[in-house]
Amino acid sequence: MMDQSYITDLVKKSVFNTILKKKPFIIAANWKMNMTVSQTEHYLDCLSRYPFSERNSVILFPPSPYLYLFLQKANRNIHYGSQNLYFEESGAFTGEISADMAKNLGSTFSIVGHSERRDIFKESDEMICKKVKVCIRSGIRPVLCIGECLHDRKIEKYTNVLMQQLMKGLCGVTESEAANLIIAYEPVWAIGTGESATLEQIEETHSFIRKILISIAGTDVGKNIPILYGGSVNPDNVGQIGLCKEVSGFLIGGASLDVEKLIRMMDIFNEKR
Ligand code: PGA
Repeated sequence: MMDQSYITDLVKKSVFNTILKKKPFIIAANWKMNMTVSQTEHYLDCLSRYPFSERNSVILFPPSPYLYLFLQKANRNIHYGSQNLYFEESGAFTGEISADMAKNLGSTFSIVGHSERRDIFKESDEMICKKVKVCIRSGIRPVLCIGECLHDRKIEKYTNVLMQQLMKGLCGVTESEAANLIIAYEPVWAIGTGESATLEQIEETHSFIRKILISIAGTDVGKNIPILYGGSVNPDNVGQIGLCKEVSGFLIGGASLDVEKLIRMMDIFNEKR
């Protein structure tokens, strides 16, 4: 005879699966400085055959040199954008790309303020704010990344850090401009470590971010800005994290490099699978 807890687990699982397939999710893939041209072509070929649903969006962030390949090969279900861009229009800025250049390559999103840009390339909140604004004014939706380091989490200062990053990163952004935003909460200590934040931490922090967004952009706009979670998301934990309140999707690094894994994650949210 099957034991009762096994049956309860099965029922719970199927209820959860139904919830996950009803909620809209954004699945964003941050390739960072990875992949070759032929790997990119293979990835796009596999993904093009996917039965995309209307509700969910997939956004890929390849290295900028591959954007042209996306322009040529990506079908209309595959949204994409740059991992970074500069806030000036043109000029002597060696190594940078402008919002218009990215836009001309079909890019409709851009990651802004990823923790690797903040830490390694010393991007300040002021610079990040300029990038957010140039994105919005160029018709590119910025995915503004925020997140605390382990020390700030340990000494319980993470809310101050997140509040600062939001207030400074969005300084001067109007309510109607804010409607174009996507926020990604990525605790720095969870990025690439294989250890995601706990479900309690995610739920609590996303609710905090929601309150700040409402205070910045007003209730109507603030309550609808998607908040993605990022940091060691993979096919085994993505469903559980999707059940957390205020999680509108995911920004996925390492696990998104393998198209099979990305598809396994998309399947969890796709009512056609
Ligand atoms: P990860 O990276 O999924 O490899 O932790 C996430 C990110 O940096 O956006």
